[in-house]
Amino acid sequence: KNDQWIMGIETSCDETAVAIIKNGREIAANIVASQIESHKRFGGVVPEIASRHHVEQITIVLEEAMKQADINYTDLSAITVTEGPGLVGALLVGVNAAKAVAFAHGIPLVGVHHIAGHIYANRLVSEMEFPLLALVVSGGHTELVYMKEHGHFEVIGETRDDAAGEAYDKVARTLNLPYPGGPHIDRLAQDGEPSIPLPRAWLEEGSYDFSFSGLKSAVINTVHNAEQRGEQIKPEDLAASFQQSVIDVLVTKTIKATQEYKVKQVLLAGGVAANKGLRSALQEEFVKLPECELIIPPITLCTDNAAMIATAGSVLFEKGVRSTMAMNANPGLDI
Ligand code: KG4
Ligand code: ZN
Repeated sequence: KNDQWIMGIETSCDETAVAIIKNGREIAANIVASQIESHKRFGGVVPEIASRHHVEQITIVLEEAMKQADINYTDLSAITVTEGPGLVGALLVGVNAAKAVAFAHGIPLVGVHHIAGHIYANRLVSEMEFPLLALVVSGGHTELVYMKEHGHFEVIGETRDDAAGEAYDKVARTLNLPYPGGPHIDRLAQDGEPSIPLPRAWLEEGSYDFSFSGLKSAVINTVHNAEQRGEQIKPEDLAASFQQSVIDVLVTKTIKATQEYKVKQVLLAGGVAANKGLRSALQEEFVKLPECELIIPPITLCTDNAAMIATAGSVLFEKGVRSTMAMNANPGLDI
């Protein structure tokens, strides 16, 4: 038996996830236990509640993944785990579970950066070709990452304030939509017209950085001003206008970087990559750039999962990267 089996563990935020990947790219198990219901009534993720749920769930999710893959621990080549960034108490649960399994069965341990995981979710769809560009849009990150080879990450642009997903969640809250708001805004936007003028933060000429806090404030002000004047704004139109503003900036900067860096592939990554408007806007633009391949993972691989950690981890493992038992959760880990 020469198959390579890699376990991935992800507990950086509000999903307890364990996956097993066969030969680097094949999903043998992918279990995600979501805690969204527990955080909903607080309008966001409560770190203490997240940690407690991870502790309750981790062994159950781990055993379920092993059962789904139908292998023994001794078949595993490596245990890979998100070591950061994220909520420290949440990360600690995954890191300690990974160390326990690695130690108990004498299996190598590999720490993975959460954003590298999001990017490598694309490797479960298609083999990566370099140089490439990844547009990472999640609840905590908005970045354009240039990669010239496996394991090399150069951030060429990032948000200076709110992440795209954070802006979605805050705008959703203003419209009294439940947490997480991204999917709700996305759905409303499909039925609205982008008729309300909202700003787009292009920043300095040539910059690949982003800024979404001005847009978020403009949406909030629009809602408050309408309330004061006793006017009605269609939530669908506001959602469509906000979404259009986000998409215009993300797509325009991505296309510009694609051309400047002459990349072979563009990968979409992170929870906001689930956005229907963003997916179709990118697909439309890339039809005009046949020399560059656009890859968009299925929605279940865009939001937090452990399959993405295991596939990123398998590349690190093959490169010889190993973590020791001294590995610790690192909430501020740099890519
Ligand atoms: O990557 P992710 O699961 O967790 C982080 O690492 O942050 O991303 C979660 C974010 C949330 O802000 C959520 O509102 C957003 O992704 N999101 C969406 C959509 N689905 C999830 N945003 C816009 N449109 C969607 N369809
Ligand atoms: Zn994430």
